[in-house]
Amino acid sequence: AEIVIVGSEEEAGALVAGTVLGTIARRPDAVLGLATGSTPLASYRALAERIAADGVDVSRVRGFALDEYVGLPEGHPESYRAVITREVVEPLGLTPGLIHVPNGSAEGIETAGDDYEAAIEAAGGVDVQILGIGRTGHIGFNEPGSSFASLTRVKTLTEPTRADNARFFDSPDDVPMHCITQGLGTILRARHLLLLAFGEAKADAIAAAVEGPVTSSQPGSAIQLHPHTTVIVDEAAASELA
Ligand code: F6R
Repeated sequence: AEIVIVGSEEEAGALVAGTVLGTIARRPDAVLGLATGSTPLASYRALAERIAADGVDVSRVRGFALDEYVGLPEGHPESYRAVITREVVEPLGLTPGLIHVPNGSAEGIETAGDDYEAAIEAAGGVDVQILGIGRTGHIGFNEPGSSFASLTRVKTLTEPTRADNARFFDSPDDVPMHCITQGLGTILRARHLLLLAFGEAKADAIAAAVEGPVTSSQPGSAIQLHPHTTVIVDEAAASELA
């Protein structure tokens, strides 16, 4: 992987925005892979600003979120559908009907994974996949033990991940137990991976992903199997790299 160490999240955001806009310039109907969580927010802000400033036509851009909680009531503000609408679709001015999020509602959950894979395939695959990483080493919600060949499916969230995400909910008990996530195999099919991480809490996960053995006990290490990965980290997240 190519490792880029930046001074701030804003600097990372500018780099991500540049990469994504370059892709859209070559391909106005580019397919973006969208992470949620805190990590990509500066990138989404930078993208929104540059799209507005440069008058970029993003009306044909397509997108696929990485994951979704299972079982939240429809319209819940912390569902990833709601988050993607609020943080990405609206500020960037994307076309809502072209932005996909896995279906985490109880109805249809059995076929939601296959449906999502089929939709990604029908779109011709993901051009640029933005990724964060969890303290457990997860990418998407592929927690340790996930197969490198896995596709979109329902998973159980680990307790450390539920605790990390409790900040978005009124009470820790409100964090769903399950999610539906793109698999590591799905993520590895994207043509360019952009893995972002900021802060000391991510240093071990980044070192394991970039330099550790390729092992399913560190799902982030799957990036070592990908021919085109860019890792953008601040000094703190880079601090355990050799
Ligand atoms: C989000 C996702 C997760 C997060 C990771 C880091 O769609 O799939 O892998 O990227 O949990 O979360 P933050 O960025 O909130 O630290």
